Amino acid sequence: MALLSDSQRYLLGLAQHALTMPRMCIQHRPFLTTGAVLVLLPVVAIAYVIARVSCTALYHFVRLHVFHADPFQHVPRPKSSFTPGRLFLGDTSEIHGAVMGVPQRRWFKELNSSVICYRGELYGPRLLVADPLAISHILSSAQSYDFPKTVLDREFLARLIGPGIIVAEGDAHKAQKKVLSPAFSTSAIKDLVPIFWKHARRLTDKLGEMVDGTEGRTQEAMSLSQTELAAKASITGKPVTDITWWLSRTTLDIIGEAGFDEDFGTMAMKDGQAGHEMAESFNSLIGASSNFSPLSIILFILGRYISVFEYARRQINPQTKAMEKLLASMNRVALDIVHRKREQIIRTMEENGLGANGKLRKSDWEDVSAGSKVDILHQMMKTNMSSDVKDSNRLSDDDILAQISNFLLAGHETTATAMSWILFYLAGNLEVQDKVRAEVQEHMSGRNELSYDGINALPWVDAVVRESLRLTPPVFSLQREARVDKVIPLSKPYPREDGKGTFDKLLIPKGMEFIIPIELLNTSEDVWGPDALAFRPQRWFNLPTEVNNDFDFPLHLATFIAGPRGCIGSRFAVIEAKVLLMQLVSVFRFERVLGWTIEPKLSLVTRSRVVGQEKAGPQMPLRISRV
Ligand code: HEM
Ligand SMILES: *[C@@H]1O[C@H](CO)[C@@H](O)[C@H](O)[C@H]1NC(C)=O
Ligand SMILES: *[C@@H]1O[C@H](CO)[C@@H](O)[C@H](O)[C@H]1NC(C)=O
Ligand SMILES: *[C@@H]1O[C@H](CO)[C@@H](O)[C@H](O)[C@H]1NC(C)=O
Repeated sequence: MALLSDSQRYLLGLAQHALTMPRMCIQHRPFLTTGAVLVLLPVVAIAYVIARVSCTALYHFVRLHVFHADPFQHVPRPKSSFTPGRLFLGDTSEIHGAVMGVPQRRWFKELNSSVICYRGELYGPRLLVADPLAISHILSSAQSYDFPKTVLDREFLARLIGPGIIVAEGDAHKAQKKVLSPAFSTSAIKDLVPIFWKHARRLTDKLGEMVDGTEGRTQEAMSLSQTELAAKASITGKPVTDITWWLSRTTLDIIGEAGFDEDFGTMAMKDGQAGHEMAESFNSLIGASSNFSPLSIILFILGRYISVFEYARRQINPQTKAMEKLLASMNRVALDIVHRKREQIIRTMEENGLGANGKLRKSDWEDVSAGSKVDILHQMMKTNMSSDVKDSNRLSDDDILAQISNFLLAGHETTATAMSWILFYLAGNLEVQDKVRAEVQEHMSGRNELSYDGINALPWVDAVVRESLRLTPPVFSLQREARVDKVIPLSKPYPREDGKGTFDKLLIPKGMEFIIPIELLNTSEDVWGPDALAFRPQRWFNLPTEVNNDFDFPLHLATFIAGPRGCIGSRFAVIEAKVLLMQLVSVFRFERVLGWTIEPKLSLVTRSRVVGQEKAGPQMPLRISRV
């Protein structure tokens, strides 16, 4: 998952490449005394890093241009003239200076290839694989365990959210997935729909209070959801507010109730008021993780090799300790929930005279769920206790616990971000917004909610959600590595460097990393023509034949990827987004603020910010009024 910001990735890349490359230039020896270590440590650390960095950059450069022995030597690469800066930054300076995804998109076009390899930090190869056949191959059941997440991503995630399905690989992942899957099946999600509606109405109630309370330009922000500039841009009954702020509270409340039957109550909270302990811990955890200082990142990497650096990192970085504390406090609350649930399940089993020796048979499920809880955790624990699961595959309390922070991380900001972009696109396409609103009003006519199937019968709602997820997928890109040497097929062959013929396969050597550029996959002009980058939901009413039907991408989109490592929550997310969209457009009109340009900005997910208001941080300010 793209969890790191550009600059963090840059620093991690820098440090990682300095350390994982062959130790050609430097040998490290133990020092003699503790005193000497303390004095020399900073000096040595800096010298070490500088030497490693230079050696590595040179090594990559020489390997590519002199020995022609780079692992991706033959893959088309962007042409750029050489400057000394490029040795250290590669093509990344171009990426950092541009709007997300723009240089990559241009390279793909210029090179007329579906795989390219640009130069990353320290001139290391960065392979981008955007070929549909290659992607289906990499994600397929047969192959996907041979393309795990990178070691670095796994370590970072493990520290942030602990173990759990996101970090697990191989057999451990298979076992966890067996226990988790039933909780995300269509029938399980159908039961959650009333929870989505309930929270969607809470959101429109609260937003309504803000809309009705806005009288003229206010000099002071009404809540944390407004910057001063937004308050100044507000007019009576039409406030400007950061819609992501609201949505991220709503999606947190939703995952609380739908995930664990806990009322986080963040939407009902006044600004600054303390909320549910678990929600608070989680939010602080995410805040802390995106605030890593560059030094602590470098020490983190060094610490993997030399433990004294890890010790130093803990000392200089109070955040590390804070994060560990937060994770522990979150787990404590979660453990209470797990214990309470187990008692609930066992009690229901006993009341119904079910479950000899504490295990459920599949046929007992329906009885036990009748009138009982529908949340994901409950379903998961029931599956774990059912006799259909092999004893060796049962999850311990710790395993189950770990999933809770996993769901919070995977299911909260992603959906809030997706929703924010949906409203952004509708705010810029008022005709489409009116069509969606008319469709919703027609189908709802007097009712205040629709069922799962009822919701999915609305074509414009469906098309708008897909189109937005196509154009701005919340997860921008993923990194994977090859566990063993792998040859992957390509649907579009690329030309050989010497011009003699083409290659229709790609070798990824063992241990090499590559990028799946999710954001670029579904905006191909080859498939969609010149308006591939335009917001045009109508295109979904008439899909081109190239849109892959063979491989099981949810919604025909790469947004949730697919296969064994695909998003387990895609159905949950899509129906949640639809409910929020339907409720929001039936009450409010959304407009853009004249003269404010919004651009995507990678933080944990593809957030947004206003050009010229970068200091305010990520935000999606829209003008809201009652319809
Ligand atoms: C629009 C919203 C969402 C998007 C775009 C999204 C996208 C993704 C993507 C791209 C992955 C693959 C990550 C990787 O392998 O590195 C993923 C994994 C995952 N997602 Fe989502 N997700 C969304 C919502 C949710 C929700 C609501 C939940 C849970 C309630 C959820 C739970 C998970 C879990 C548990 C995984 C790990 C699955 C595994 O590794 O087997 N996601 N998601
Ligand atoms: C791009 O490559 C394809 C084959 O891979 C070829 O058919 C097409 O003509 C090329 N387009 C351009 C503009 O060179
Ligand atoms: C999205 O990308 C995937 C992977 O390349 C492809 O199979 C699918 O057909 C694409 N869908 C659309 C709508 O472009
Ligand atoms: C999973 O099931 C086993 C066997 O019934 C049980 O011992 C274990 O405590 C369960 N795990 C959880 C978290 O309920």
